[in-house]
Amino acid sequence: MTRATWRTRLGFVLAAVGSAVGLGNIWRFPWLTATNGGAAFLLLYVLVIVLVGVPGLLGEMVIGRRSRRNPVGAFGELGGRPWRVLGGVALFASVVVLSFYSVVGGWILRYTAASATGAYFGAPQQYFAAIDFGVGAAAFHALFLLATVAVVYAGVDRGIELATTVMVPGIVVLFGGLAVWAWTLPGSAGGYEFYLSLDVAYLRANFFDVLVAAAGQALFTLSVGAGAMLTYASYIDEDRSLAADGTIIAVLNTGIGVLAGLVIFPLLFSLGVSPGEGGPGALFVGLAGAFADLPYSRVVGVVFFGVVLLAALSSAISIFEVLVAYLVDEHDITRARATAGVGGLFLLTGSLAALSPGLFALLADTIANLALTAGLLGFLLFVGWVLGPAAIDEYRTGAGTVARMTGRPWYYTVAVVLPLFLAFTLVSGLGGVLGVPVTAPQAAAIAALGVVVAIALVRHRVDTAV
Ligand code: PHE
Repeated sequence: MTRATWRTRLGFVLAAVGSAVGLGNIWRFPWLTATNGGAAFLLLYVLVIVLVGVPGLLGEMVIGRRSRRNPVGAFGELGGRPWRVLGGVALFASVVVLSFYSVVGGWILRYTAASATGAYFGAPQQYFAAIDFGVGAAAFHALFLLATVAVVYAGVDRGIELATTVMVPGIVVLFGGLAVWAWTLPGSAGGYEFYLSLDVAYLRANFFDVLVAAAGQALFTLSVGAGAMLTYASYIDEDRSLAADGTIIAVLNTGIGVLAGLVIFPLLFSLGVSPGEGGPGALFVGLAGAFADLPYSRVVGVVFFGVVLLAALSSAISIFEVLVAYLVDEHDITRARATAGVGGLFLLTGSLAALSPGLFALLADTIANLALTAGLLGFLLFVGWVLGPAAIDEYRTGAGTVARMTGRPWYYTVAVVLPLFLAFTLVSGLGGVLGVPVTAPQAAAIAALGVVVAIALVRHRVDTAV
């Protein structure tokens, strides 16, 4: 069986942007920004995207294109059987992310419909509380999943590429329009103030907490750590510059994310809703409640949630594809059967998350960040210390002069600097989850030790392997 490929360069870039732009930008980002000091968070988030997210994304793309396999097959092919375990981490992270993601996708679907009828206008808070978890939430999650299944079933080029080529420009145009419109609303100035003016004192006092939150969010928004970008990159050709494509993807994703903030914060402030009411319901209660008071509220609601729905779908597709690619490549079953099987799995895990707020919060708040961080950490140690110089070759393949020159600095960044940083956020994050608060210097020391030991072990394996 010949392996699928993208039809056009733009097709790959748009699909990858579609993966990156999603609920992470629109639902998770404003909620985290609001609870982590506004512009302080924005600043660190953008920095982490540039310094960590982009090199990390390129690491995933290098593995994907070099191996032309799903995550499990990729590590096995490039490093030998034992390394398939890293692919297992990617599959695990994918299951974690999509299990809660499709529940939120179901909420969005419901709000798109409810905007048309004005169902939540009277009492937004009560409306959300009535639909967030339970059998209804599970049903809407299943509908959202069904739409995801339909696109993935149609295939890489005819399904994913075609769908995202339509969705992504649609998202940009509609959000651009909404941002301009939000700017015209009276009282929106407070939103820009909160979102864009930096509170240095806050940043100083909370630097490490904000940094850890920003790091998790930067990985989440770029879709790295779960093998989604690895899988998408496995469908591209040698003649593309990974560095150029990766940069375009990150710039578009961050741009659309910032744009979403320019819609959401002015809107909230113009209606006197505090963005500080954190939690996963922030977007729904705050924003949906705000819509009710606006002229043309139904149209605004349908357009807004409709765009978010497209963005969520194009991300869900990419996570779903990780598992489908694994089944198709490694177990030689047809795409149709693989899609049905994976759909069944998510029907189950997503329903559990839709029925249990505790499970949902655990997945969305903590396990997702930890799994993505652990995943990326493993991928980059692999790139740095198993692939080694071959990674630079792959990075340079198809690249222009400028991109070729960045090969070596990129390599040292992913082999040494990023593992230290990721291990640091992982240790800090784990400390928080386990209820053993670690100070920043302690986390740094543990992380450094862990990375040194891991590298020594990896090198030992590689050197003694026959
Ligand atoms: N990047 C997506 C978003 O921001 C979520 C995602 C995470 C997709 C991990 C794939 C893998 O919504």
